[in-house]
Amino acid sequence: LSLNFTARIARRSDYSKIVRLCNRAVGPDDYVLFGLADTIERGGLFLAFSGDQLVGMSNFTRTIDNAGWLGMARTDPDWRRKGVALFLQNEKGKYAKELGIRKFRLFVLSTNTASLRACLKGGFSKVAEAAHMSISPKKFKNNEIQFAHIDSKNSLRDLLRSKYALKMNGYIPYRWNFLKFMPGVLLEIQRRGELYESDGLKFILTEKLEHEGSHREFSLLEGSFERGVSSVISVGKKLGCDSLGAFIPFDHYLISIARKFGFRDDSWGWHCIVLEKKL
Ligand SMILES: CC(C)(COP(=O)(O)OP(=O)(O)OC[C@H]1O[C@@H](n2cnc3c(N)ncnc32)[C@H](O)[C@@H]1OP(=O)(O)O)[C@@H](O)C(=O)NCCC(=O)NCCS
Repeated sequence: LSLNFTARIARRSDYSKIVRLCNRAVGPDDYVLFGLADTIERGGLFLAFSGDQLVGMSNFTRTIDNAGWLGMARTDPDWRRKGVALFLQNEKGKYAKELGIRKFRLFVLSTNTASLRACLKGGFSKVAEAAHMSISPKKFKNNEIQFAHIDSKNSLRDLLRSKYALKMNGYIPYRWNFLKFMPGVLLEIQRRGELYESDGLKFILTEKLEHEGSHREFSLLEGSFERGVSSVISVGKKLGCDSLGAFIPFDHYLISIARKFGFRDDSWGWHCIVLEKKL
């Protein structure tokens, strides 16, 4: 089906063409536009051309469990249903294999039929479901809370049996990605100082995320959800976060608890379908 498209990785000089593509494909509020210069700099933004016309794009990064993470798929409205997205998936597949990557992963909002179907047609299957929710901890009263980094390697084995990871089919959200939850992943997160405990609860709380002010993401690993949510809000406040977010298992009961604490559903991620493909 591909109509002689060519692909290459974006360069700085492509900046304005990419801005135009995002504006046409999504609109001026497209989140991709906010960190675009850095995305180009990181060297994983694939562009598809027909002749010298930019017709589509999609980004590629590497996760800490050595999967390829795909995102920012955009096809120019005049070029939809012509195989651009599938062409880019294939091109990135070849590139990733050369890097020794054996899996692709991504998430799509459940209502984004075009994207979901393009992924299924490209050989992806659903592996987990989650809801992304956010809160501003600043609104909360100061609450004295003890918390500490988990430094000992001994306690990690139990964490791998996290009921929250089980609810997500053995995957765990980390930053804006989902990872297969395994010992190496937990060790790396611990090495980065992002593994915490507080009052019998264990959770990942990331460093501040780039381009997000003082936003951090958390994932609860052990302990009651209700206490977990409330403690992480206090820890977040203490660490000076303006906003705190989490992908939680897509479970109506857990979502209702998070809402009770003031978490809001994010329109871009209220029901994320996590998909994976073997290369
Ligand atoms: C999602 C998107 C990138 C798909 O790009 P595309 O180049 O049109 O996709 P392709 O032509 O490669 O389509 C491959 C398959 O996906 C499915 N598909 C794509 N668009 C579809 C649509 N609107 N409705 C139903 N199925 C669709 C079809 O199965 C299609 O194969 P077919 O045309 O042979 O039936 C494009 O619609 C887009 O830019 N959307 C706006 C941005 C966005 O939502 N990005 C994804 C964020 S996760």
